[in-house]
Amino acid sequence: MITLGIETSCDETSVALLRGTTILANRIYTQELHAGFGGVVPEIASRAHIRKIDVLCDAVMAQGNLTLCDIDLLAVTDGPGLAGALLVGISFALGLHCAHKIPITGVHHLDGHISAIALEHPSCTCPFLALVVSGGHTALYRVEEPGVYTVLGATIDDAAGEAFDKVGKMLGFAYPAGRAIEICARQYTDSPSITFPRARVDGRELSFSFSGLKTALKYFLAGKTAEYIEQNKPLICASFQQALIGALVHNVVAALRTSALKRVAVVGGVACNQALRTALQDAVGEAAVFFPAPQLCTDNAAMIAIAGAQMARMGRTRFPSCQPSKSL
Ligand code: KG4
Ligand code: ZN
Repeated sequence: MITLGIETSCDETSVALLRGTTILANRIYTQELHAGFGGVVPEIASRAHIRKIDVLCDAVMAQGNLTLCDIDLLAVTDGPGLAGALLVGISFALGLHCAHKIPITGVHHLDGHISAIALEHPSCTCPFLALVVSGGHTALYRVEEPGVYTVLGATIDDAAGEAFDKVGKMLGFAYPAGRAIEICARQYTDSPSITFPRARVDGRELSFSFSGLKTALKYFLAGKTAEYIEQNKPLICASFQQALIGALVHNVVAALRTSALKRVAVVGGVACNQALRTALQDAVGEAAVFFPAPQLCTDNAAMIAIAGAQMARMGRTRFPSCQPSKSL
């Protein structure tokens, strides 16, 4: 089966082509236009998607050496995300659907992130634990079968990637700041000496909270000179990263213990973080931990295509309906 995936929920425009679970092409245009704003500007994102989407579609068709007549399924992200940005991808997909009579399905963006694991790791079979750590979401799911999830715990405030981005802004890094913080933290090779708090959510061991960590860092910086901050950025980044990773690892270990699951998939943009990967590998004991390749962790259309293909295999496709804040 040939699937064309389309992803435009935030600031990546992406189109991908799959044959079965094999990626024939996966083009991603990352909009660097938001770097100076400290976050994504919705109107700028929508306009950039419009400018790029047909260019990317032509490029993947050429790379895959296929024509639109060869496509068996269109899979498009229909939520959650920025309303205007989602509408660009959905409208484009509906145009292809109507003009070429190609079957279509809407895909939940988080379903895409979780399904990304199936592109490279067929041994991560259901049931498994999924930690979704991105700029918009941080949650633990029990994955019963593709598309069937139980939420075990989620953030009650900021997402992990959002915390990286907000702290990065305080430290003068461009948006998105997760990778820059990780690179800066690597320059500090000792054990980080600043202790930032790990929040506990009363009665909900598997929930996350990162706003207290962000505030603690804000007050820490407020008491320091610009010169101190500049000279100690690697230590500050390493200490912040250690605190945030500590919270993620704690909840994954607790979820594995209480669920008795033996496999865990870590997906979403923050799963690119090598320190998180190492800490989880070290902490999960007998369980197997799986990560997508970095380009399949951040937003991309190959993950949307595989999620759509899995829905088709199970007879669960659905007509796209733009739902900017749909929950999983
Ligand atoms: O999954 P994604 O591309 O978009 C959302 O669905 O949100 O994730 C983007 C997030 C950003 O917050 C970015 O700072 C973070 O992933 N990120 C990282 C790293 N690479 C990307 N965070 C920590 N370390 C990284 N290496
Ligand atoms: Zn995402």
